[in-house]
Amino acid sequence: MGKVYAIINQKGGVGKTTTVFNMAAEMAEQGKKVLTIDMDPQGSLTTSMGQVPSELEYTIGDLFMELIDRKPLPDIKDYILSRGKVEYIPANLALSVADASIQRVIVAREYLLKKIIAPLRSLYDYIIIDCPPTLGSLVVNALTASDALIVPIKANDMDTKGFDSLIDTVEMIKIETNPSLKIEGVLLTMFDERLLEARDVLKTLEGSCEYFSIPIYRAKIGTSTKAARAFRQRKTIAEFDINSKISLSYKEFVREVLADE
Ligand SMILES: Nc1ncnc2c1ncn2[C@@H]1O[C@H](COP(=O)(O)OP(=O)(O)O)[C@@H](O)[C@H]1O
Ligand SMILES: [Mg+2]
Repeated sequence: MGKVYAIINQKGGVGKTTTVFNMAAEMAEQGKKVLTIDMDPQGSLTTSMGQVPSELEYTIGDLFMELIDRKPLPDIKDYILSRGKVEYIPANLALSVADASIQRVIVAREYLLKKIIAPLRSLYDYIIIDCPPTLGSLVVNALTASDALIVPIKANDMDTKGFDSLIDTVEMIKIETNPSLKIEGVLLTMFDERLLEARDVLKTLEGSCEYFSIPIYRAKIGTSTKAARAFRQRKTIAEFDINSKISLSYKEFVREVLADE
């Protein structure tokens, strides 16, 4: 059975999508069969994969709508695209329509994504969900469907309140819908050790993580213009510059994730 990860942080711009995209590619490079699911209506992961989200007809939002309308799950194969060795279910604004419509579901509205993923689990080693920057129903669905969470934190703006409310949400999910959910680790992104504020953030984070028994990955992702340039060219960082420091950091991070098994 495949393991389901959600890459989550309710703040935008912390490197979630970059992490999903590069982590999936590196896992596939290591011979793992990987599916990623774009759960952000902005479709940034879908864009990274080389698509124009608004032009897509078969998206995760459409799958949600089928379930919301109490129709049987359609043939999921139509919804799975591939880029190189990585497969993915794309998203576009149809997902925000679905998000608004989830309220219509009277019973078990937290379990829609879990139902979509259920038949896919046995087909992949890893399923990685890219979360939107909220803690709303889409994220509750992602948390309910996942085995483990990875939280990217941007090193120069650790906001402890944000981290605490994420942990509160996870605790609530563990009680209500997914008792075995765990935060597998925190990944520092856009981290520059030379900056005093980055070192301060690390110290604060180490304190909180120790308190909640959450590991911080040894690999830390530095700030690099190569991340944004690779994104603009729809390339993974390894495709853009395989020997760059940031490419090696993502490799190291994936090695740690795979070693956790
Ligand atoms: N390590 C990094 N160094 C510099 N820029 C980065 C890095 N990681 C991501 N970025 C850039 O920061 C922006 C936000 O990243 P993204 O992965 O989209 O965050 P999120 O999904 O959390 O909103 C993007 O423009 C991306 O290219
Ligand atoms: Mg994103």
